[in-house]
Amino acid sequence: MLKDLLMKSRSYRRYDESHVIDRQTLIDLVELTRYCPSGMNMQPLRYYISVDPKINSIIFENTSWAAALGPAGRPADGERPTGYILILGDKRLTQNFFCDHGIAAQSILLGATEIGLGGIIIATVKRDILMNALAIPDHFELLLCLAIGKPVEKIVIEEMPADGSHKYWRDEQRVHHVPKRPLSELIVNLND
Ligand SMILES: Cc1cc2nc3c(=O)[nH]c(=O)nc-3n(C[C@H](O)[C@H](O)[C@H](O)COP(=O)(O)O)c2cc1C
Repeated sequence: MLKDLLMKSRSYRRYDESHVIDRQTLIDLVELTRYCPSGMNMQPLRYYISVDPKINSIIFENTSWAAALGPAGRPADGERPTGYILILGDKRLTQNFFCDHGIAAQSILLGATEIGLGGIIIATVKRDILMNALAIPDHFELLLCLAIGKPVEKIVIEEMPADGSHKYWRDEQRVHHVPKRPLSELIVNLND
């Protein structure tokens, strides 16, 4: 069921760093994006893949994790993702990537969940530094970073608390809790 896959597909920030991901696995996940919708069917997205520990470390150093949790939100040594997919927009094709990268990101993450992996979208990236460090040409815009690995984190979906706080939190057992708004709040009903 799609709902089960969506519920399982959480934003993971702790991974088994001894779990090696091969490049082909990430290529297979990128392949899923070929079947995604694209504004004007331009298909302007390109993907930079890394499973190399040295390059992974450069990407990791230029990403920001779980600001709400402070330093504890950043994956510790031994719990870092072992693969990355950087979603790039080819500016030679268009200046407007609509929401193509969001659709692609979610498709890749659902695909990762389906094969027992997990990941997270990281939008807070030191773009200029990372583009330079990886020698990514200027005609690409770095849109999103996807970190992927074998999750070791337990994540629980919670009902939104009465005070409406959307902040996620970690308990003493390091279980991660994510509040979600109720369906009744999502539907706009102007006739009530
Ligand atoms: C567009 C977007 C950007 C995000 N950027 C970051 C980020 O820079 N760092 C981070 O730790 N999490 C990031 N996240 C993950 C969110 O924090 C996460 O989706 C949210 O806490 C809800 O958790 P869930 O995905 O498990 O439902 C991002 C998510 C989205 C959709």
